[in-house]
Amino acid sequence: MSNIYSPNIARVMEVRDETPDVRSFRFEFIDPEIHKNFTWKAGQFLILSVFGVGEAVFTFANPQTRKQFVECSIRKVGLVTEAIHELEVGDTVGIRGPYGNWFPFEEFKGRNLLFVAGGIGLAALRSPIEYSLDTREDYGKITILYGARSPLDICYKDKLTEWQNSDSVELVLTVDRGNDEWKHRVGLIPNILKEMNPDAENTIAIICGPPIMIKFTLKALADMGFTDNQIVTTLEMKMKCGLGKCGRCNIENIFVCKDGPVFYYTQLKNLPEEY
Ligand code: FES
Repeated sequence: MSNIYSPNIARVMEVRDETPDVRSFRFEFIDPEIHKNFTWKAGQFLILSVFGVGEAVFTFANPQTRKQFVECSIRKVGLVTEAIHELEVGDTVGIRGPYGNWFPFEEFKGRNLLFVAGGIGLAALRSPIEYSLDTREDYGKITILYGARSPLDICYKDKLTEWQNSDSVELVLTVDRGNDEWKHRVGLIPNILKEMNPDAENTIAIICGPPIMIKFTLKALADMGFTDNQIVTTLEMKMKCGLGKCGRCNIENIFVCKDGPVFYYTQLKNLPEEY
């Protein structure tokens, strides 16, 4: 395993547009030994450097069971992500990591899994979803509820088609505002979740999305009988160094980069409202 504190040079293998402001990148390490040995666990994150511009934290979009490359899906929101969106196949970046904890799949064995993702939140849940599909026999029913603002904002259309056609998983798609071509549900995620009314018995809900979605999804789950230790989420905001050093990511006494980014809701519920 390479040193997690120093960046390894990686080359862009593939660039794919997901939505008007989200692009997915596949990277391979230049050093074949590093490429072969570099690994991570679903839920962990990496720090990507664009030389001469800066660095930023991203989650791994693909799981360790599909590690032919490192994939990240990146929304254009600032200087570094704008520079990343300019990258073309063959360009090089620095990647260091992996950092943080991961989804506790050992604890999920034998349980039903309910993934609830909003918008770009699916990028953080894609690796645990694909990991659970690659270790399918370990779990009961797997359900995915994914929502975005509009059909244009839906990420991973090829993956969604694959999941839609799979017997291993039930996929429900929704948008806040549909259009003539949209054949799935229209409505906010928490409302669709209530209509689905999943059985809380023996189910773990794994959620990621914008704060307002999380807030109302947590309420909907509680109303359906989910307890705080049946809800797992991942927090990505505010991280910088990834090492517990810069003090940028702490919420009260929790450091998202070291204690997380994956948390049971039990660990977060008493934090201030803005988180
Ligand atoms: S990101 Fe620097 S302390 Fe967590």
